[in-house]
Amino acid sequence: MNQTRILTLVGSLRAASINRGLAEAAVQTAPEGVEITIYKGLADIPFYNEDLDVPGSVPAAAQALRDAVAASDGLLLVTPEYNGSIPAVLKNAIDWASRPYGAGAIKDRPVAVVSGSISPNAAKWAHGDVVKALGVAGARVVETAHLHFAAFGERFAQSHPREDAEALTQLGATVHELVQATGELVSA
Ligand SMILES: Cc1cc2nc3c(=O)[nH]c(=O)nc-3n(C[C@H](O)[C@H](O)[C@H](O)COP(=O)(O)O)c2cc1C
Repeated sequence: MNQTRILTLVGSLRAASINRGLAEAAVQTAPEGVEITIYKGLADIPFYNEDLDVPGSVPAAAQALRDAVAASDGLLLVTPEYNGSIPAVLKNAIDWASRPYGAGAIKDRPVAVVSGSISPNAAKWAHGDVVKALGVAGARVVETAHLHFAAFGERFAQSHPREDAEALTQLGATVHELVQATGELVSA
């Protein structure tokens, strides 16, 4: 059986990011035959600029992201909320992966979106904006995989999300739905 490859993009760059903690917990939920990796190079990618997006001379960091997205079977996006919307680093990644227009690496790729914030709203505005951008970019948003973590500052103040049984169960369900969606794509 082929390995299913899930690539995770995290919308926070800070070292102690709880969203990255959630992504790390998700890695742990990967069933046999599924490999989940967290993309490390988002901070190195320049802001999207059509003048830089020239065939043959795309910035290496942006090309590396496109290649990683293209090599994946599905994406897991884990996002905080900045001022009521998507953190710029994640929007930038979506923009690079969406081009060339109509043929970007993200096109038709199943994507699950997880959001988390310190507020009771669980970064749902950011989640909605990520889903909207993904849809416009041509990705296949897996709505059954949506997941939100509210007030996670208190919840994970003393422990990593991977130590939280409920979080692992919820993330495992999200990963399951995403993997199911990749299977549907292959058999479609
Ligand atoms: C620039 C900035 C804007 C923020 N705006 C929001 C917001 O609109 N809604 C919210 O719930 N939290 C907001 N926060 C707080 C984040 O929820 C909190 O910093 C969270 O821990 C970020 O996720 P991380 O731990 O993965 O870095 C903001 C934080 C920053 C740094």
